[in-house]
Formats: sequence, structure tokens, C-alpha cells
Amino acid sequence: MASQNRLLFVLLAATTACVVAQHAPPYTEDCRKLTYPPSGPTYRGPVPWYTINLDLPPYKRWHKLMTDKAPALRIIVNSLKNVVNAFVPSGKVMQMVDQKLPGLLGNFPSPFEEEIKGIADVTEIPLGEIISFNIFYEFFTICTSLVTEDKKGHLLHGRNMDFGVFLGWNTNNNSWTVTEELKPLSVNLDFQRNNQTVFKAASFAGYVGMLTGFKPGLFSLSLNERFAMNGGYMGVLEWLMGKKDINWIGFITRSVLENSTSYEEAKNILTKTKIMAPAYFILGGNRSGEGCVITRDRKVSLDVYELNPEQGRWYVLQTNYDRWKNPFFLDDRRTPAKTCLNHTTQENITLSAIYDVLSTKPVLNKLTVFTTLMDVTKGQFETYLRDCPDPCIGW
Ligand SMILES: *[C@@H]1O[C@H](CO)[C@@H](O)[C@H](O)[C@H]1NC(C)=O
Ligand SMILES: *[C@@H]1O[C@H](CO)[C@@H](O)[C@H](O)[C@H]1NC(C)=O
Ligand SMILES: *[C@@H]1O[C@H](CO)[C@@H](O)[C@H](O)[C@H]1NC(C)=O
Ligand SMILES: *[C@@H]1O[C@H](CO)[C@@H](O)[C@H](O)[C@H]1NC(C)=O
Ligand SMILES: *[C@@H]1O[C@H](CO)[C@@H](O)[C@H](O)[C@H]1NC(C)=O
Ligand SMILES: *[C@@H]1O[C@H](CO)[C@@H](O)[C@H](O)[C@H]1NC(C)=O
Repeated sequence: MASQNRLLFVLLAATTACVVAQHAPPYTEDCRKLTYPPSGPTYRGPVPWYTINLDLPPYKRWHKLMTDKAPALRIIVNSLKNVVNAFVPSGKVMQMVDQKLPGLLGNFPSPFEEEIKGIADVTEIPLGEIISFNIFYEFFTICTSLVTEDKKGHLLHGRNMDFGVFLGWNTNNNSWTVTEELKPLSVNLDFQRNNQTVFKAASFAGYVGMLTGFKPGLFSLSLNERFAMNGGYMGVLEWLMGKKDINWIGFITRSVLENSTSYEEAKNILTKTKIMAPAYFILGGNRSGEGCVITRDRKVSLDVYELNPEQGRWYVLQTNYDRWKNPFFLDDRRTPAKTCLNHTTQENITLSAIYDVLSTKPVLNKLTVFTTLMDVTKGQFETYLRDCPDPCIGW
């Protein structure tokens, strides 16, 4: 138990660093225009597509992708190790991760256990480190997500994936080490059964949960981190102590994308399932009015805020703060994003206008790894790697 507590301490310390780091000087700019199709200094490049064949046994599904991405994954796993060893220099935490964590794996639900084992074997990275890599995403995803509805009732979904604040900083070019290391791991995934797309997702190679994705024709989903006092550590602690009915958030969103067949079903599951850590689910459907932000505590839903085009609510937008509270005054991405959406107007909302909003600092910041644009009814799914050259918030 002592060593388990130490792992929790490291998780806690890392997230505290994350929250503190949000207190950066605000840097805002006028709403960007005509940034799409992506080009110029805020566009790093395209994200490759891979097919994940769900007809293969879970152990084998990730082999092709992970063979390509093993070197990039090793780099980031080493960074994670360095951070942990910096917090607890004896090296004992990583020893514990390598030796003890796999013993807990038997408790991951199918298909995740086998998938993670397959990834560890093909990359030759210790299983415990692959598990840690998967767990970290439950806690450090600082993002902006939005769903809009145009005058014709057509829905669009956009998100910036911001990640990596708690690890090192490159002083040579003012960037976050892990944010940079995640860019080569970023992939678009086409999950197929019988050679047919089941869902598509934007993700990081080596992670088996899903944080951003859509089911063509049916719904789109993204997950944003929610900080709360009674946060994820309590969930992890309970889980380690044997309460295995709690669900890892990235696993729930993956299951919903894989197996739910409608907006209503997805909404129902995301509202009711007990989860490991607080979160925001941003869900879009395939017809007018189907768009919401679900604010989740670990056990219950606190709020479901929906589109209401009749009353002029033509978008819902979520960063990392409850909508009924002010954001941290030094991390207000909500007001600039809303200002730009208001400026765009419902008449003129398009995927390219959403890309403009997501390209406006500080909605775009030094933690932004990629931007994803989703059009459920047209089946359009696009992900772009981002950069945020100085001057740019996120330090
Ligand atoms: C910053 O430098 C690091 C190596 O020190 C490199 O990996 C990264 O891509 C660079 N980032 C940018 C935005 O230039
Ligand atoms: C999928 O397509 C490939 C090549 O087109 C084919 O060889 C294979 O039999 C198909 N699999 C299924 C399950 O339809
Ligand atoms: C989806 O459902 C299938 C069939 O019930 C199940 O085998 C699979 O594990 C589910 N996928 C996820 C990610 O939960
Ligand atoms: C929209 O989703 C519903 C399920 O919620 C589905 O029955 C319907 O066929 C979908 N509409 C279109 C046009 O795909
Ligand atoms: C955006 O417009 C809505 C609806 O008119 C308004 O309530 C909100 O205050 C505006 N927000 C900003 C940041 O301009
Ligand atoms: C929408 O875009 C058109 C063409 O760019 C422009 O003329 C019009 O003023 C815009 N509408 C609003 C309400 O901003």
C-alpha cells in the first residue's frame, strides 16, 4: 500500500503543477480569419491515418500502428519516467510501476487489457509504463471543445487537444517537451469491422481510450478534463482498493464510440456511468438541437447544457471550467472563443470558421497538440497538428 500511495502522490503533485501552470499571463488576439485550409506558422502538418481492425483479436489490433510509432512512444515514456524520478529521486516509483502495476492490469475490462498487452509487447516497453501512459490521459487534458448548429440545422464539432503542461519545458524554443513529443504520436484512426468504418478518432499512438471521435452519420464526442477537489485521485484510490465498478473515462468514451448507435444512447451512457475522474463530455448528434455539454462528477451528472436553436443558443462550448463559474482569470479561453463565435454569427458558421476560432490565441496556445474538425452528417473528419509561435500563452 505504501508504494501505491507514493504513485498517487506523484499523480497529485503532477496535477497540482498543471493547475498552477495555468496561471500564465493572458495573451489574446483579434479573432483570426481565413486560416483554413491550414497553412503558415500555426500549422505543423497533417496527421497520418491508420486503420484499426476490430475483427482482429485485441492483442493484435495495434501491431501495425505501434510498429511504426514505437520509437516516438519510447521517447515520451522516457520523459514521463524522468518527471516521476524527479519527484521521487530514488527511482522506486518507476520500479514499482514496472513491477507492481501490471499485477493490477488483470482488472481492466475487455478489450483494454489485451490491447495494452499487445502494445507493450510490440513496442518492447514495460507493461507498467504503457499502463501509466494510458492513465495519464485521464488527468491532464486541457482543451477547448464546441458544437455548433447553422441556420439549416446542420451540426459541426470542433476541438483543440491541449496536453503536456506538467512535464519539462524546452528553453531553446519555448515549447513544452511533452506537447512536442506528442505531435509525432498523433494519429487519425479508422476503426473498422467487416471492412466498414465503425468510428473514427484522433488520438495518440499507445493510448487505447479515446478522447475525440465520431460515428459517421450518428454522433460526435470529445472529452475535456474537469478539475475538482474530489478529483480523480479518489477514483484511482478506490479502484486500487478494489472498487472495480468504476470506469476509466477514456474507456467509456471508446466504448460509446464503438458500440452506441445513437446520440440519445450515447448521452444516456455518458450521463449515468460512474467514472474514475470528473470530466466534461461534449456530444453532438445528427440533427437540429442535438448537441450538449455534460458536466460530470465521478458519480453523477451535475449539468447537461444543450443546444436550443429556437432560443438562439446555436452553440455549446466547453473549456475546463464549469459553465456556471468563472474560468481561472489567467486561463480564460472561454470568453475569446465565444467572442469569436458571436462574431462569426450563426449565418456564417462552417468548419473553416470553427478552425478560425480554434486558431485564435489563447484558444490556440503552447499546449495545443492538434485541432480536430468533425462533420457527422457529411462524414468529414480532419485533424491538423498545431504550433503556437511566440508571443503565445502557455508560456
Ligand atoms: C523545440 O525543440 C525541441 C527539441 O529541443 C523539438 O523537439 C521541438 O519540435 C521544437 N518545437 C518547436 C515548436 O519548434
Ligand atoms: C476486407 O478487405 C480485404 C481486401 O479488400 C479482403 O481481403 C478481406 O477479405 C475483407 N474482409 C472482410 C471481413 O470483409
Ligand atoms: C463493444 O461491444 C462488443 C460486443 O459486445 C464487445 O466485445 C466489445 O468489447 C465492446 N467494445 C468496447 C470498447 O467496450
Ligand atoms: C440520425 O441518428 C438516428 C439515431 O439517433 C438514426 O436513426 C438516423 O438514421 C440518423 N440519421 C441520418 C440521416 O443518418
Ligand atoms: C455571445 O453571445 C451570447 C448570446 O447573444 C451572449 O449571451 C454572450 O454574452 C456573448 N459572449 C461574448 C463573450 O461575447
Ligand atoms: C456572412 O458572410 C458574408 C460573406 O462573407 C458577409 O457578407 C456577411 O456579412 C456575413 N454575415 C454576418 C451576419 O456577419
